[in-house]
Amino acid sequence: MTYLLALDQGTSSSRSMVFDEAGAIVAVAQREFRQLFPQPGWIEHDPMEIWHSQVDTCREVLAKTGLKADALGALGITNQRETTVVWDRATGEPVYNAIVWQDRRTEALCEDLRARGLAGAIHAKTGLVLDPYFSGTKLRWILDAVPGARARAMRGELAFGTIDTWLAWKMTGGRLHVSDVTNASRTMLWNLHEGCWDAQLLDWLGIPASLLPSVHPSSHVYGETDAEVLGSPVIIGGIAGDQQAALFGQTCFTPGMAKNTYGTGCFLLLNTGEQCAQSQHGLISTAACQVGAQPAYALEGSVFIGGAVVQWLRDGLGAIGHAGEAEGLAASVPDSGGVVFVPSFTGLGAPYWVPSAKGAILGLSRGSTVGHIARAALEAIAFQSAALLGAMTRDAQAPITELRVDGGACANNLLLQFQADLLGIPVVRPKVIETTALGAAYLAGLAIGQYRGVEELASHWRAERTFLPTIGRDQAASLMQQWEVAVRRFTGNGE
Ligand code: G3P
Repeated sequence: MTYLLALDQGTSSSRSMVFDEAGAIVAVAQREFRQLFPQPGWIEHDPMEIWHSQVDTCREVLAKTGLKADALGALGITNQRETTVVWDRATGEPVYNAIVWQDRRTEALCEDLRARGLAGAIHAKTGLVLDPYFSGTKLRWILDAVPGARARAMRGELAFGTIDTWLAWKMTGGRLHVSDVTNASRTMLWNLHEGCWDAQLLDWLGIPASLLPSVHPSSHVYGETDAEVLGSPVIIGGIAGDQQAALFGQTCFTPGMAKNTYGTGCFLLLNTGEQCAQSQHGLISTAACQVGAQPAYALEGSVFIGGAVVQWLRDGLGAIGHAGEAEGLAASVPDSGGVVFVPSFTGLGAPYWVPSAKGAILGLSRGSTVGHIARAALEAIAFQSAALLGAMTRDAQAPITELRVDGGACANNLLLQFQADLLGIPVVRPKVIETTALGAAYLAGLAIGQYRGVEELASHWRAERTFLPTIGRDQAASLMQQWEVAVRRFTGNGE
């Protein structure tokens, strides 16, 4: 038996998983690391802490399985996307903390690009909405703010990477400075249509090209890890941003198939095949996992605060002791009693794009209880996802007939039932909900010829539970309208 190792470097923890050939999980290891908030709206990670937490989980998961690294056919890396690291090529020392995707510090830079009339051209080249979310302005900020960084970059002494690139660099002792198309497509420096770094984008953002990694398909033999990292060299056979990896792990290989991941945020991706569809409704176009020479694309909507609203119920409001209690508290009331929670703590993402939005709870009455707030919080996750799917349906050429779901909060049955009710289509939870890691393992397995092709992977996928809509479409539309009114009233925006 040959095993595959997946490194899943997420926003709040680093995890490693060993999969067997049939895509079943053999073992998991996980380590949390610090979230740094140096100023309001700023979120950073220590890149060395990311590296150590990740490599520790690799070693731990191998120890749990009793396997040696030479039992691994290959490993795949999947990662929180957009998060930006710059380091010294000679020493491997980061010049600054990693600036996390949620960080809003570059709003003024984005505003400046907007004022220069570049938003449309940037969107046309990258498929992205001009927003601090993406790496380009974060990288620019580091070059401007860290003393000497720009001069060092101009001399070719520094390297830039998203977290995949950073991990591949560390695992190979600096031999590999690489990324894949899915991660590159999140930088705002990558021309999505031509499949290359774009000289004009680099110029507009003031980024020297010498900083950039080489970019390959997601399933690709990138190289081998240094022997001392895991005990013997392991082929790095897959790299993909976590949301594209989840689309792949959900085996959404056919145009029209969609998945939603309920993690810290929610990320809804629709496979658009070989066609790079441009949204008219506030979604972004992005590279999907590439296997072979043919690029693949997806439409994506990102909700910045998804499961994180449950953390806020626990840590901010003190309404629950641990996240698992949210469902029970929400179920203690029959509905939200008119309470609408807009959890835009870090701005509102797609399809609204209001970077400065703050959170709000509306519709409180004397009868409102913490149960209503908990229910409204869970419903907000579903409302935001439904707004995305609505935008996608308007953009897509064919109707979306089911939604595959994964991520931590998809264990919440109340949430998924409400989601199916709002959407009016089946919401399907698979047996293996670790689809992000699974996607990375599959990419690695394909690269080394362990699988015949994606059809073989699709045959492994199994549903665990399907949530069917239980309310009429009129009722769903009126609930959706309540939500849209709340968003509009609160942000002056909304579809
Ligand atoms: O775009 C950000 C996304 O990749 C983060 O995912 O799962 O780490 O919250 P996650």
